[in-house]
Amino acid sequence: MARSKITIVGAGNVGATTAHIAATRELGDIVLLDIVEGLAEGKALDIAQAGPVQLYDSLITGTQDWQKTKDSHLVIITSGLPRKPGMSRDDLLVKNVKIVKDVSQQIAKHSPDSIVIVVCNPLDAMVYAAARVTNFAKNKVMGMAGELDSARFSYFLATELGVSVKNIKCVLMGGHGDDMVPLPRFTTISGKSVTELLDTAKLDELIERTRKGGIEIVNLLGCSAYYAPAAGAVKMAEAILKDKKTEVPCCAYCDSEYDAGGYFVGVPVVLGKNGVEKIIELDLNDSELAQFQKSLAHVKHLAEQVDKLL
Ligand SMILES: NC(=O)c1ccc[n+]([C@@H]2O[C@H](COP(=O)([O-])OP(=O)(O)OC[C@H]3O[C@@H](n4cnc5c(N)ncnc54)[C@H](O)[C@@H]3O)[C@@H](O)[C@H]2O)c1
Repeated sequence: MARSKITIVGAGNVGATTAHIAATRELGDIVLLDIVEGLAEGKALDIAQAGPVQLYDSLITGTQDWQKTKDSHLVIITSGLPRKPGMSRDDLLVKNVKIVKDVSQQIAKHSPDSIVIVVCNPLDAMVYAAARVTNFAKNKVMGMAGELDSARFSYFLATELGVSVKNIKCVLMGGHGDDMVPLPRFTTISGKSVTELLDTAKLDELIERTRKGGIEIVNLLGCSAYYAPAAGAVKMAEAILKDKKTEVPCCAYCDSEYDAGGYFVGVPVVLGKNGVEKIIELDLNDSELAQFQKSLAHVKHLAEQVDKLL
């Protein structure tokens, strides 16, 4: 039986970390591609040489040559500028849409049957761009952000409540921006909503820290986060490649769902071998719906800018 082939575009912080985690989980053979000469080759060689220590058998190839990505089952796009202190994700749009356009054309040419996970920012707009340029079926193009944002919320809750992160089922929706929509009413520990476990002021504080979770790390590091984003991308890749039917928050195409009207936005989905196999529709109350609609309006505004640039 052939092993899965995974291409990771961009061998920077997120891309290389994604490659390493994917290798440790033996998800398949990995092609790491970057435009910078030697970068992908060097990182791939280093990751391959950790194999005998960590006992994984994945083949890892670093390259600048798209030919080597041919017939990938899954492509993860991490190529794009990250934020620096003082920048918003939206500030990256003009430069990153160009990169995503070039990369998506190569993906459509070399791996026309692949499933694509976009990671670069501004996330929802870059997923929209990749879907438009590849013209792949809508269930086969998606973005990783909700997994990261909900992981941040889970971590803050677990720390506050003194429970294992494994015991928290976090639900979060909306675009990957400051107007993301953590949903404490649906976020549970052993079936009990966190709204019953923490007072409103504390919950609001943790939600605010989650919303600003990206810039907190940018301000500390001078560049954006990569361990948790890479872990999120690998969880989604694993769900697809192993047809796990895993429920994850994911930037997915929604039309009638949540009345989104044909945009890519963060919602709970089921991931399996066909990509996004199902969108889970939660029964949001008026306040939650209003927050989601505000976030969606932002996503639509960014998509309009993408339309002008493509
Ligand atoms: N979705 C999320 O939750 C999330 C989280 C963290 C970072 N990000 C985003 O992911 C992207 C990557 O972040 P990073 O920290 O790895 O940045 P980085 O600068 O470390 O790496 C980006 C890499 O992409 C490469 N690249 C640029 N254009 C390319 C092209 N046309 N083809 C191939 N490679 C190309 C660069 O040479 C660089 O090595 C950024 O846009 C960042 O904002 C998203």
